[in-house]
Amino acid sequence: MPRLAITLAASASALTLTACGVVDGIGGGDTSASPTKGDDITVGLLLPDKDTARFEAFDHPIFKKEVASLTHGKGKVDYTNAEASKDKQSQQFREMVAKKVDIIVVDAVDAAAIAPDVRKAKDAGIPVIAYDRLAQGPIDAYVSHDNELVGEVQGRAILEALGSKAATSRIVMMNGDPADPNTASFKDGALAELKDRVRIAEQYDTDKWSPEAAGANMKKAIRAVGLNNIAAVYSANDGMAGAVIDALKQAGATTIPPVTGQDANLDAVQRVVSGEQYMTVYKPFLDEATDAAQMAVYKVQGRDIQYDALTQDKVDSPTEKDIPATLVPVVALTKDNIKDTVIEDGVYTVADICTPKYRSACAAIGLT
Ligand code: GAL
Repeated sequence: MPRLAITLAASASALTLTACGVVDGIGGGDTSASPTKGDDITVGLLLPDKDTARFEAFDHPIFKKEVASLTHGKGKVDYTNAEASKDKQSQQFREMVAKKVDIIVVDAVDAAAIAPDVRKAKDAGIPVIAYDRLAQGPIDAYVSHDNELVGEVQGRAILEALGSKAATSRIVMMNGDPADPNTASFKDGALAELKDRVRIAEQYDTDKWSPEAAGANMKKAIRAVGLNNIAAVYSANDGMAGAVIDALKQAGATTIPPVTGQDANLDAVQRVVSGEQYMTVYKPFLDEATDAAQMAVYKVQGRDIQYDALTQDKVDSPTEKDIPATLVPVVALTKDNIKDTVIEDGVYTVADICTPKYRSACAAIGLT
C-alpha cells in the first residue's frame, strides 16, 4: 500500500538519523522502547457502534495487531464498543481513566459530549487521540480521512450516474448522525457537488447512523416524492444504503436508482457487484487503524520523531486549534475498481465477495 510504504519509509529515515547519532533523546532502534515507557503498555480503544461493520471487523483487530507488533507482543489494548450510546461511551471512557491506561484512542459517539471526559483524562496525565471523528476537548492528535472529500466523492458519483439528466433529477439525501462531526463534513462535501446541479427533494438526518431509521425515512421519502420520481439517493454510509435499497424494493422498485454509500462493507461491495448499489467510499482501514496504533505507541513511549512524522497535518476543532493530525486518503469504489482496492489491500478475497448468489455478477465484471 503506497501510504503505508510512505509511513514506513518516514519511520525508517528517522531511525537512520538516530542510529547515526544525529538525533538525541530517543531510545534508539526501531524495536527498543524509550526511557519514557517500555513495551508493557495499555492502550484504551473506544469505538462507537456495532451497526457499522468496519469497527468490529477491521478497526479493532488491525489496531490490536499493530500495538502488539510494536511492543513485542507485550502491549495490551483495552477495547470497548459504545453501541451507539454516548452515555455508555462516557462511562467506558471514565473507567479507562480510573484504570490509568497509558493512552486513550476514542472514536466519539458524540464529539461534543465526550469533551469533559477528554479534559479529565488530560488532567490525569493520560493523552487522548481522536480516532476517525474529531472529538472536542484537549485531544493530543487526530487520525481520520479528509471527510469533506468523502462527501465530494459521493456527490460526484451521483452526478456521474445521472449524467445529462442531473438538472431535472430529484434526489433524496440520507445524512448521518448529527452528533458525529463527520456528518457535517460529508454533507458539506456532497452539497458542494450537488447544490444547484440536482434538486434535493427530501433530506433527513439519521440518529445514531441507524439503518432502521434510514429505512423508515426512505419510506417517508417515497410517499412524499413518489417512487418513480426519485432519480438517486445520497446515502452517507453503507448500513443506511442497505436499508434504503430494501425500502425501494419493498415499495416495488424494479430498477434501483443510483444509491451511494461509505465504508466498503462486504454486503455493500456485493451490492455494487450486482448493480443494486452504485458505489461506496473505500476508506483504507488498514492505514487508519495502523496509523492510530503507531501514534498511540510512539506517544506513550516518547518516540517523538516517529510521532511527529505521523502527525504532519493540522486541523481545528470547535474547541482546539492546530491539532496534529493524519488524514488518510479515500477512494470511490465502483464495479470497475474492486480488484484494485479492497481485494488488493487484502480486506476481502474474491471468494468472500463472489458467493454463489453473486457468482455470475462477479464473472460479468471480471471478478473471478
Ligand atoms: C463515521 C465514519 C464512517 C461510518 C459512520 C457510521 O463517522 O467515518 O466510516 O462508519 O461513522 O458509524
